[in-house]
Amino acid sequence: MKFAISISLLALVSSALSDDSSQQRPITLSNSGGFQIGGKIISNPRNPNQTLSCDHGYMEYFIPWRPRKTSLVMWHSSSTQVWQNRWDGGEGYKDMFLRRNYPVYLWDGPRVGRANWACEPMMYIPTYMDQANFGAWNFGPRWPVWWDNVQFPTKDAAAWQQATSARYVEFDTKANVELHSDAAAIAADSGKVGKDIVYLTNSAGGLRAMMTATKANGTNIKGIVTYESIGYVFPDNVNITEGKGGFGPFVVPLERFKKLAKLTAIQFVWGDHRAENFTSVIESRLAAKLINQYGGNAQVLKLGDDAGLKGSTHIPFADLDNVKVAGLLDDVLEKNGLDEYVDEEEDDGN
Ligand SMILES: *[C@@H]1O[C@H](CO)[C@@H](O)[C@H](O)[C@H]1NC(C)=O
Ligand SMILES: *[C@@H]1O[C@H](CO)[C@@H](O)[C@H](O)[C@H]1NC(C)=O
Ligand SMILES: *[C@@H]1O[C@H](CO)[C@@H](O)[C@H](O)[C@H]1NC(C)=O
Ligand SMILES: *[C@@H]1O[C@H](CO)[C@@H](O)[C@H](O)[C@H]1NC(C)=O
Repeated sequence: MKFAISISLLALVSSALSDDSSQQRPITLSNSGGFQIGGKIISNPRNPNQTLSCDHGYMEYFIPWRPRKTSLVMWHSSSTQVWQNRWDGGEGYKDMFLRRNYPVYLWDGPRVGRANWACEPMMYIPTYMDQANFGAWNFGPRWPVWWDNVQFPTKDAAAWQQATSARYVEFDTKANVELHSDAAAIAADSGKVGKDIVYLTNSAGGLRAMMTATKANGTNIKGIVTYESIGYVFPDNVNITEGKGGFGPFVVPLERFKKLAKLTAIQFVWGDHRAENFTSVIESRLAAKLINQYGGNAQVLKLGDDAGLKGSTHIPFADLDNVKVAGLLDDVLEKNGLDEYVDEEEDDGN
């Protein structure tokens, strides 16, 4: 009898700590801030007294009062906003994982978001993107038809307006992948992002994070969890027909590729409504297989087929059921020992 009571109390307590009620727990930070990293200082060829500091990335950070060791670096493709809120304005990954005491870093690669000046002339021609965003983010088979089960507040016109307005201009070129991963590798090796980095990426950010791991020389990068990565990195000893586009495939020397096999964990996550014959899904399975062939720990997780979630979009960590998506990330971090607290380690040393 007593046993039964304590079980049901436990169930009550654990349900009170999950889902939306976790928002009642305050976020307690020791500090927050931001910094520029990487980039160059170039001189004006017509006046060497004049220089321009350019092509650096920008990192904003939030450090919990009692932090875990793993720094979660949130690497957007469309905009930083996707990490900040759920589609309906509810809690996004940034606050969710601060409540879990992970240091959170929001990264803008060179020339996007708050990393602004380029080292060369830039221009972009606006295109009529709104309807294309709807398709790219897998809200439905085609504009304006939503998937029946989509994890988006489909009746909320303001939510759709927020989503599509948040998008930055994105430079999906090969050169931009190199530019972003150059700056991010310097950030990783600098130690300014901590000694245990896990990149959480979306879409074209995934390719950039993988490239970063093949460029960094230190051991600070411990993991990569990609959400719907478009574009993958492959070693030069396999017969991959190298793409010329900004979404890869990127072929790197085998020695660099093997750095991916040294990471504690890599997970390539797919939303719902992604067929096995989708090029990027095929590439994710091949990349995981090759990483594991060199002793790595990579897996592919389909939120629909493997985890039983329904209607996950291209940006599933902003979906209405992002609490469930976050729970799956908890599993990966815990299973791979990436959830330790800094002071636990200090205690062990005493
Ligand atoms: C650069 O600065 C030096 C030292 O102040 C000055 O003598 C020189 O005229 C400057 N050059 C130009 C192109 O302004
Ligand atoms: C890593 O080392 C190589 C070889 O010394 C160097 O070319 C590269 O710039 C280094 N990477 C970073 C991110 O510093
Ligand atoms: C690589 O693949 C291409 C296309 O399938 C094929 O034509 C070529 O012979 C292959 N090369 C090697 C070295 O296997
Ligand atoms: C993928 O498979 C589906 C269903 O089996 C098929 O309708 C579609 O044409 C295939 N797509 C590609 C790119 O092969």
